[in-house]
Amino acid sequence: MKKFVSLLLALVMVLSVFAVATAEAPKKVGISMPTQSLERWNRDGSYLKAEFEKAGYEAILTYSDNDAGRQVNDIQNMLAENVDVLVISAIDAEALNTVMDEAANAGVAVIAYDRLILNDAVTYYVSFDNYTVGKLQGQYVETALDLANAGDKVYNIEFTAGDPADTNATYFFNGAFDTLKPYIDAGTLNVVSGQTEFQQVATAQWNTDTALNRAQTVLSSFYADGTVLDVWLCSNDSTALGVAQAIESDYAGTNPIIVTGQDGDVANLANIVDGKQTMTVYKNVMDEAVVTLSLVQAMFAGEVDGAALVDTFGVACAFDTESYEKTPGNKVDSFLLVPSVVTKDNLNYLVDIGLYEMGDDGYLTAK
Ligand code: GAL
Repeated sequence: MKKFVSLLLALVMVLSVFAVATAEAPKKVGISMPTQSLERWNRDGSYLKAEFEKAGYEAILTYSDNDAGRQVNDIQNMLAENVDVLVISAIDAEALNTVMDEAANAGVAVIAYDRLILNDAVTYYVSFDNYTVGKLQGQYVETALDLANAGDKVYNIEFTAGDPADTNATYFFNGAFDTLKPYIDAGTLNVVSGQTEFQQVATAQWNTDTALNRAQTVLSSFYADGTVLDVWLCSNDSTALGVAQAIESDYAGTNPIIVTGQDGDVANLANIVDGKQTMTVYKNVMDEAVVTLSLVQAMFAGEVDGAALVDTFGVACAFDTESYEKTPGNKVDSFLLVPSVVTKDNLNYLVDIGLYEMGDDGYLTAK
């Protein structure tokens, strides 16, 4: 009998130690960001790491220098570190299948962050309404030129889209192009280069120099004869930076040109102050990080009711079960935040949200 009691006591002690260890063991999150060469991801990575650590998580943060193979290795290393959940912004939506299968086999949940991963291992998608990002750019042009009342006026426009490997890029481009296509069809907007297909206007890795070089080629080929350029619709700020440089160096006209962008990169905000860019679509990536943490916490609490969860975020966010597919026919439950338009007239909005500060010279810097 004594032997049984001592065995029982030993078992209770082992279980209680295990229980304490499990209860206190911080959850571990792997945060895989694509690159530091595009400004916004530096903020995404630091905000995500800070928010998860504030909540008691151990956070592993990597940047894969826009190298898809390196991102696979970075994520494999996180799995080897026994992370409980992965938060990934994919460099290439279709290049992570191997490591996604490894995550699924290990029972590790995957949050596709900002950019969708085309693999069934994705548990949830957290982003902004990417089609609306493009739509806001198109609507800005529509309103600024009053296209609906243009009469027989014709405005010349060019397009620069994003990285074909980034699923967001086609949503941005389609949102903008669908908005402006009626005016192109009516002849109110004229794409002088004739380059209106996504693949014709796409920019690998969102690279500024690539966007610059293509813009210079278009300008020298179609605008050197004095043709007036009225609009250059760019899907994001890193490409808009290249286009603005090309306009400055290779366009002889002196007329105002509408140049759009996205992200609120500091160099582009300066171009907005200086009149070289007209607007950017701003996405509050601090909110994106907070929503991601809240979702992960709900996942570990075993209670993700998306429709109810969005009401707890404190920021505008839609729970969407229809817009995005992780693989053909398989929709992914998505949490989509709301983008906003920033121009010279509302730069203070960025100061008011506490993420930028304005110098005496009127230029903004990120905090
Ligand atoms: C997209 C992202 C945008 C854009 C681009 C550059 O996927 O949603 O903010 O800037 O990447 O990194």
